[in-house]
Amino acid sequence: MRIIKLNAINSTNTFLKELSSEEAVADYTVVQTDYQTNGRGQMGTTWTANSGENLMFSVLKDISFLSFHQHFYISIAVSLSLIKTLKQYQIPNLYIKWPNDILSDNKKVCGVLIENSIKQNKFKDSIIGIGLNVNQTDFKNLPQASSLKLVSGKVFDLEELLLSFIENLKHYFSVLEEGKPEDLKKTYETYMFRKKKPSTFKDAEGNMFTGIIQSVSETGNLQVLLEDAIIKEYGFKEISLLY
Ligand code: BTN
Repeated sequence: MRIIKLNAINSTNTFLKELSSEEAVADYTVVQTDYQTNGRGQMGTTWTANSGENLMFSVLKDISFLSFHQHFYISIAVSLSLIKTLKQYQIPNLYIKWPNDILSDNKKVCGVLIENSIKQNKFKDSIIGIGLNVNQTDFKNLPQASSLKLVSGKVFDLEELLLSFIENLKHYFSVLEEGKPEDLKKTYETYMFRKKKPSTFKDAEGNMFTGIIQSVSETGNLQVLLEDAIIKEYGFKEISLLY
């Protein structure tokens, strides 16, 4: 496995995307950095993290075996790999906040940015960007953020965590490649944050509403039971789960 380690870079996702457009990049090639000057989050947000205290990396995986409607299985494989890794390090109370934030003790310890490329109308590669808050303890303007150190009191070796994650990612992708995605979806559902609990959501216009998460569809839509007893499906650009 090739690990490209950089002291600082704009964004590991951007770097790996550019590299893979210039040359053939092998599966599980990792770009890792201590610091990002333009770290990117989901929905055009920025991702900030202190230098040297956290894991920020992107990994490339060939996803040509997946058809477009199976795109959410990438999120599932990545989320489960993160959960398995964090469990191996005894991180408590782990949940997946749909679609793929990882929470511990109800706070976000990890964010995921998945960017897929398409060639000749088929999936080509997935660039899986992971921002895992590890040894950082100050999150001044981010009250919902936490780190492995804050939830466990321990300090972690970044490289060790990275290697454990990649091993787990290989395992979950091999399950997908063997054609058993349903098993992974069932496991994902058992970790869903606030599943079957009354929750508050915000839609794209900023309106709040309540409902109860039932599950997630094969294509990754959140299935929410609304007050008038109907179940509605939402894409991840349509709503966010507040609490
Ligand atoms: C989110 O929760 O909004 C996703 C955050 C993803 C951050 C990681 S850090 C490494 C990789 N490079 C980026 O620019 N973003 C991802």
